[in-house]
Amino acid sequence: MSAYEIVHHEYDAIVVGAGGAGLRATLGLAEAGLKTANITKLFPTRSHTVAAQGGISAALANMGRDDWRWHFYDTVKGSDWLGDQDAIQYMTREAIPAIIELEHYGVPFSRTPEGKIYQRPFGGMTTEFGKGPPAQRTCAAADRTGHAMLHTLYQQSLKCKAQFYIEYFALDLLMDDDGSCKGVLAWDMATGQLHRFRAHLVILATGGYGRAYFSATSAHTCTGDGGGMVLRAGLPLQDLEFVQFHPTGIYGSGCLITEGARGEGGYLTNKSGERFMERYAPSVKDLAPRDMVSRAMATEIREGRGVGEEGDHIHLHLEHLGPEVLHQRLPGISESAKIFAGVDVTKEPIPVVPTVHYNMGGIPTLWTGEVVTKRDGNPDSIVQGLMAVGEAACVSVHGANRLGSNSLLDLVVFGRAAAIRAAELVKPDTPHKKISSASEDKALTRLDRFRNARGGTPTAKIRLDMQKTMQKHCAVFRDGPTMQEGIIKLKSVIDNYVQDVGVSDRGMIWNSDLVETLELDNLLGQALLTIVGAENRKESRGAHARDDIKDRDDKEWIKHTIAWRTGDTDVQIDYRPVHMQPLDNEVEHIPPVARKY
Ligand code: FUM
Repeated sequence: MSAYEIVHHEYDAIVVGAGGAGLRATLGLAEAGLKTANITKLFPTRSHTVAAQGGISAALANMGRDDWRWHFYDTVKGSDWLGDQDAIQYMTREAIPAIIELEHYGVPFSRTPEGKIYQRPFGGMTTEFGKGPPAQRTCAAADRTGHAMLHTLYQQSLKCKAQFYIEYFALDLLMDDDGSCKGVLAWDMATGQLHRFRAHLVILATGGYGRAYFSATSAHTCTGDGGGMVLRAGLPLQDLEFVQFHPTGIYGSGCLITEGARGEGGYLTNKSGERFMERYAPSVKDLAPRDMVSRAMATEIREGRGVGEEGDHIHLHLEHLGPEVLHQRLPGISESAKIFAGVDVTKEPIPVVPTVHYNMGGIPTLWTGEVVTKRDGNPDSIVQGLMAVGEAACVSVHGANRLGSNSLLDLVVFGRAAAIRAAELVKPDTPHKKISSASEDKALTRLDRFRNARGGTPTAKIRLDMQKTMQKHCAVFRDGPTMQEGIIKLKSVIDNYVQDVGVSDRGMIWNSDLVETLELDNLLGQALLTIVGAENRKESRGAHARDDIKDRDDKEWIKHTIAWRTGDTDVQIDYRPVHMQPLDNEVEHIPPVARKY
């Protein structure tokens, strides 16, 4: 049917995305002898993992007593009891071998004087099942940990002969009539050529959709492309209402200042110079989990105690740490503060504000990486041929609130787990069966439609309308009427996109106008599910803080939201139970209690 010539490829497994999770999966697949391709819209070392600063958690006990079971406890509590305890057990236990493996692959971690991997404190990481002092659990390569990991994993993947298709934009999943995934259709942005990749397994590692918001630490490329493809394949996404605001985005630019800054002893103050976190989290203060610190900052600002001419931000102090510590442990953010805030961190505080940073929700998976949906009453029905890892996925180890430095860990542990499971499922060189062309035809029709869109509203205008709507109507604090108004506005933004988006470049070579339009399509679906899911959840839990319903409701709401996009502006909501039982008896299930620090 198509006017496009398509190049065909066959692989055992394909990974889409080359951030930390995608590269770790790619490496594992290639090591297992599977013919592996990685399709990525960015050069691998430019993926957003490069921006991860503070570190990666694992109870190595290099700098004080620690135990992975304490890490398990902290993560369950940090998730506000929405995390799946089987997956959390797997992640916190496997953290230790996964980090040692990274070290052996060559990640240049900072070192203690004895030569061990350096570890710093991070928010919500404690000892003795929350009863002891803060844990030093976050392994760091200065404040450029993600950068160090990406380079190492990319080099190791090349060594194992994984094939990379770089600057290829994944358009859609190729689904067979039986609902299984059989490959991906992608566009080589440099040549304009379309490529069909057949595979027995597709692993989505496409990152989050932070750019649905106006102010985000996420790169402009974080447009939830995997989530968009999953929605178009008629599959649900999970728990999108849980959006993490990082307490310390630089005021104005949104650029990240790592939580490691507070881990090294930095602290926040309001306009009176008060260290206000002492009032909100008396035991851990500035090292409370992110949802709590962000809410405390937002409250200070709302109640007139913010700093600056407009009283709309907070100060982060590092001056007292001294130039030597700043140079050795926090060189990257010292530079960012200079460039983006004009601040010399050795002398003055950094102006910061809570900024969208991470999506706890995503593509629902088991701890093996296998994507699940709810079918015939089975909430864990596996979608054959499809896996998801990293921020694109919702395993769910972060539940309603992620602890800092558990994200890099999630990437590595579940990238590795997916490759292990793939090696069990796929025999190298298994031939590919013919599949229905329906999903490819649909993907090409969609591509053509946007390529030839002649409406009067530019993509950038619609994107800005979406971002402003989300920023205003689905923020750190939410309430029913504000979200309901936001849903109406967002639906009209989507209608405008569907009816009136205009693309001016009709070419196929480096058509960034079209790329951004396709990315916006992915963002809009996830923005819609986020705000509809948030309005629907009638409680406050983790990062979902409602002004009108302030309490957590364990009787009704210990369940994952799963949501399908059933029309341009239509959403269908259902639920999956939270896995409250761990994998085995190495740990005990942690029953819900009030979350205090
Ligand atoms: O603050 C940070 O360095 C970010 C870490 C994370 O999101 O895990």
